[in-house]
Amino acid sequence: MKGDIIIDAKNIIKRYYIGQPNELEILHGIDLTVREGEFVAIVGASGSGKSTLMNIIGVLDKPTEGRYMLDGVDVVAAKDKELSEIRNQKIGFVFQTYNLVSRTSALKNVELPMLYAGMKSGARRRRAKQLMEIVGMGERMHHNPDELSGGQKQRVAIARAMANNPSIILADEPTGALDTKTGRMVMDLFHGLHLEQGKTIVLITHSPELAEETERILTLSDGMIIGERRGLGHAPL
Ligand SMILES: Nc1ncnc2c1ncn2[C@@H]1O[C@H](COP(=O)(O)OP(=O)(O)O)[C@@H](O)[C@H]1O
Ligand SMILES: [Mg+2]
Repeated sequence: MKGDIIIDAKNIIKRYYIGQPNELEILHGIDLTVREGEFVAIVGASGSGKSTLMNIIGVLDKPTEGRYMLDGVDVVAAKDKELSEIRNQKIGFVFQTYNLVSRTSALKNVELPMLYAGMKSGARRRRAKQLMEIVGMGERMHHNPDELSGGQKQRVAIARAMANNPSIILADEPTGALDTKTGRMVMDLFHGLHLEQGKTIVLITHSPELAEETERILTLSDGMIIGERRGLGHAPL
């Protein structure tokens, strides 16, 4: 329910073993709670551990130590099969490099998560079309990704992230490869999903201006959260 804690991570440590006896500690004990419906930004220098943290939040990776409850599910204890279901049902991912399947249409890309979830083809196709309309890609849905601009590809990726109606959107520098104007359009889509659909959004961004538009800004430095402040919560008027 809106306002309930949906992401609850405590003392998250991530180490990589780079050959015995060496190990590299990347995250040094992160506490992070996010409430359902919140729009949060994570900022920090390149190499500070933002993507590592995002991958743990998104259950693409497990922490070395720490506790993580995602919508009431103990992620550290959960089996791989359960984790892939959680990923598919509860989380939508958006990446800087879009990560679309290049040899099939934009529309089919949006259908894919629904196919994995076992949805029938007619329903899948209908929902994919609706989502493409929402992101303003109704005209170009039959094009392959390599026939689309960066901004168009990112809009397809956002439609795909929404496919299974997840409560959480995780976006790792989604505007990083886009010019300011196109980045603005993508950011406005996120505002829409937040304000109109109540989605919980965690956005990693290099742009201080875009971070200020979210409700809460966390600063990561060298694997630790060193600051937290309030943001505007909407695009500048
Ligand atoms: N698989 C890995 N093995 C060893 N080190 C890694 C691995 N993945 C990331 N790192 C290191 O972790 C640090 C944080 O990386 P990352 O989370 O990608 O930072 P950011 O997203 O903030 O740029 C970097 O120093 C990176 O080199
Ligand atoms: Mg990164």
